[in-house]
Amino acid sequence: MEKLWAGRFKKALDKEADDFNSSIHFDSKMYAQDIKGSIAHATMLSVQGIITDEDCKKIVSGLEGILCDIESGKLKFDMEAEDIHMFIEQVLTERIGDTGKKLHTARSRNDQVAVDIRLYLKDETKEIEELIYDLIGAVYEKAKEYKDAIMPGYTHLQRAQPVTFGHHLLAYAMMFKRDVERLEDAVSRMNYSPLGSCALAGTTYNTDREYEAGLLGFKGITQNSIDGVSDRDFCIELMSAYSIIMMHLSRFSEEIILWSSWEFKFIELDDSFTTGSSIMPQKKNPDMAELVRGKTGRVYGNLMAVLTVLKGLPLAYNKDMQEDKEAIFDSVETVKKCLRVFSPLIETMKPLPENMYKAAQNGFINATDLADYLVKKGIAFRAAYKIVGEIVAYCGENGYVLDDLPIEIYKKHSDLFDGDLYEEISLESCVKKRVSAGGTGPESVQCQLENVKKFLKNK
Ligand code: ARG
Repeated sequence: MEKLWAGRFKKALDKEADDFNSSIHFDSKMYAQDIKGSIAHATMLSVQGIITDEDCKKIVSGLEGILCDIESGKLKFDMEAEDIHMFIEQVLTERIGDTGKKLHTARSRNDQVAVDIRLYLKDETKEIEELIYDLIGAVYEKAKEYKDAIMPGYTHLQRAQPVTFGHHLLAYAMMFKRDVERLEDAVSRMNYSPLGSCALAGTTYNTDREYEAGLLGFKGITQNSIDGVSDRDFCIELMSAYSIIMMHLSRFSEEIILWSSWEFKFIELDDSFTTGSSIMPQKKNPDMAELVRGKTGRVYGNLMAVLTVLKGLPLAYNKDMQEDKEAIFDSVETVKKCLRVFSPLIETMKPLPENMYKAAQNGFINATDLADYLVKKGIAFRAAYKIVGEIVAYCGENGYVLDDLPIEIYKKHSDLFDGDLYEEISLESCVKKRVSAGGTGPESVQCQLENVKKFLKNK
């Protein structure tokens, strides 16, 4: 294909340089957005009397034909083309003749690509949000089913206080809920059309940017043409939102990996989401969770790559900016793949509440409640804390847990202890007494469940 810009040059582009410069092998992904943007542009040009209605009709039907043929596989991308924008314009001109050459009036590839990425990211982010909603749904169902299953809650990965499995899972529902909100927030800031900024300075034609923006579903137009073509903040915002999603998925993965180990055995993953070993017949490995954890690195890496590409760029457009795309596409695809595998992983995992309960019985996780017991009997928390610390040390040395330490020994540490302490420090009552809003107590967990359900219903 001859370059659309060949007129100024006496020599053709060197082959190696041509390949180096070309982006069609990745930006062809945005063909639908590019065509949509071009249709809106041609429509605006005709409404403004810049091209005739007849030319507009020819251009629009030519573009629709191209879309159709790409989708049916009839039209293949020409890897010799410089990028998706040039490819579509060239095919259009081949198909409809000189009228095709009018499409690029009052436009530049600089505003064209800026609008294409925004349209692409709007579409993809919607899809990612849907996938997060699915995941929240899966987490919600498990949390509801296991809202009373007692397990040890951890700090420093040391058993800390009893919580319920439902409460623990709902912590992830809160993270994913924020992820949706974060995406929405970033999209609302991105939702302005740069089309009409042209190369960088705007145009001499009487264009109607607002109209064009409306046709493309944008809330409005970008205010400064130089910013319009050089801004990639929205890519960085979304890529950091994707990174945070991955960070959440990775933390969840880490727990799933731990919980499914023999050391914990809090859950069993379904056969359909685990793999075996080529040598050890007994193995059932949590590869999906491990891969999600592993892929988090590339999504972070992509964010760093784009931040670094942009950091030294003078205004306005620079070719460096073409480097944003592979990183963005990879992050979008990775996040979608991870979410698609994660929801069914959660749906099909089988919690093992007996094992969770057993683990909760060791590790003195009701020690705080024992101290609270003394506080209720009238002593200061710090003093109670010290007494209980000594009792825990005694139990550790003599093979007791707090629940089976005889009352006589308790009394040696403080005469405030009585037989009612055993009921007070049972795991069930430790959980039930956590009545503070957001705590692990049943009312709070119920309230969290209802809020998550409402969030899912209002999507
Ligand atoms: N392929 C280019 C990109 O992705 C399109 C914009 C090119 N503009 C230009 N003036 N060379 O950034």
